[in-house]
Amino acid sequence: MSGNKQYYITSPIYYVNDVPHIGHAYTTLACDVTARFKRLEGYDVHFLTGTDEHGQKVEKSAAAAGMNPQEFTNQVSKNFRDLAESMNYSHDDFIRTTEERHIIASQAIWRKLQENGHIYLGTYAGWYAVRDEAFYDESELSDGEGGRKLAPSGAEVEWVEEPSYFFDLSQWQEPLLKFYEKNLDFIAPKSRRNEVISFVKGGLRDLSISRTSFKWGIPVPGDPDHIMYVWLDALTNYITAVGYPNKSDSFSKWWPANLHMVGKDILRFHAVYWPAFLMGAGIKVHQKVFAHGWWTNEGQKISKSIGNIIDPNEIVNTYGLDQVRYFLLREVPFGNDGDFSKKAMISRINSDLANDLGNLCQRVLSMVNKNCNSKVPKYTLAGVTDYPVFRTLQEVHSLLPKVREKINQQAFHDALEEIWRVIRNANQAIDESAPWTLRKTNPQGMADVLYTLMEVIRFFAIILQPFMPDSCSKILEQLSVSEDERDFSSIEIPSKPKLFGTSSLKPGTKLPKPNGVFPRFSDDQSAD
Ligand code: MSP
Repeated sequence: MSGNKQYYITSPIYYVNDVPHIGHAYTTLACDVTARFKRLEGYDVHFLTGTDEHGQKVEKSAAAAGMNPQEFTNQVSKNFRDLAESMNYSHDDFIRTTEERHIIASQAIWRKLQENGHIYLGTYAGWYAVRDEAFYDESELSDGEGGRKLAPSGAEVEWVEEPSYFFDLSQWQEPLLKFYEKNLDFIAPKSRRNEVISFVKGGLRDLSISRTSFKWGIPVPGDPDHIMYVWLDALTNYITAVGYPNKSDSFSKWWPANLHMVGKDILRFHAVYWPAFLMGAGIKVHQKVFAHGWWTNEGQKISKSIGNIIDPNEIVNTYGLDQVRYFLLREVPFGNDGDFSKKAMISRINSDLANDLGNLCQRVLSMVNKNCNSKVPKYTLAGVTDYPVFRTLQEVHSLLPKVREKINQQAFHDALEEIWRVIRNANQAIDESAPWTLRKTNPQGMADVLYTLMEVIRFFAIILQPFMPDSCSKILEQLSVSEDERDFSSIEIPSKPKLFGTSSLKPGTKLPKPNGVFPRFSDDQSAD
């Protein structure tokens, strides 16, 4: 396999003032599936996640907890590392913005922007929402209760007036529009791209990029009264992690990133400010930003004040890790908003996992165990070419390119639907091929059918590894597929008219006793 294709993917870095919830788990999960998929395709992958630890919001949370910000961030950033562990993410690096390497990189990009004439000193007078760590224009605000002003996100804004350095964002309107035009896939989904373009067409104001009224941030080089605006600091993490400002092998190997995966609320930062900062600093712009939608909980907006936050650890404990991973990417078209409900979760577990995939594996493997001496059956295909399961095998052979295309479009739900269409066909084909009847009338026919079905399952288990790594590993163990035969080169399509390829299962291989991988979820297991 060629080892020279690179893929650099990033999740947002999470504010440490919050406990991790389903929204955080979701963005990183989508990255994890992509990273695992690319690795199986033979790419050299760098997958970055981490925590965003500076800014007024974190400083306030630390004060409320009676701690100094550094102690506070040390403690709470661990929650996110633990989440990464419990969700089985395969990240290559976990960055914290309080690390030395990041302070160096942030000050370096600042100096570069300054050197290139894009930073000037002025005074900021305007509205700021601490919750969003964002500046808003008067025209964007609405009236809240008690005369309070609210940002479009619902966050309360406050009036800020202080000396500030500015980035000349207003100069970047045309270059950005040209960039979007030349790079049609830069912002996805398409509806988001249109939103960003009309925002930029509406005119850009220079952006305040330093603060003096609090201290928890990276000092502005040469003017320690100022700290850097948390978003300039935060966005820089993507280049820090690959070695900036050191234009080392690492930087040229990984940068520009292939994909920044983000939620819709932070698209503007990644599709407008970040490319402008990069262009200003003379650094190449990342290749793509994908903005996914937001989850609600049983139809209600998720919020700390309502107290309906979904704790990923809790749902993993209740429903199972791979079940949750599957559900989150299957239930809602990636890019749309979606609703988390127990009913929908249980229905996916029972119908898609237990009934469709689980049953397929269980039926086939227990028949092989009982009737083929617990060994991979010896096929001959002598005189039989028309069993329905052979058609399923052919469908399975054409799956990988379809799934790849969907993954490259971040259409995880469609990728899974493509696979499930064939899983359902496979179950139907078993009924039609009826190996239990062949057992008596044509034992060799039974062996041919069961071997073919094991091959079908092998394909599914390999292709589904990015989504459900543990469960697929269990299935592959039950098929006696060794660990070095689980990447996508092992599901190559045999050259016609052959049905099986060189990496297909080896007839006669001893098999372990089959064990159900996807149990049904019964209502009395429910959390409440
Ligand atoms: N620190 C910034 C990101 C800096 S990236 C250079 C930040 N952090 S965050 O912790 O507030 O949110 C991170 C991600 O969680 C965003 O992508 C956001 O969309 C996502 N979600 C937060 N709540 C969500 C839902 N209810 N549903 C889905 N995703 C949501 O923003």
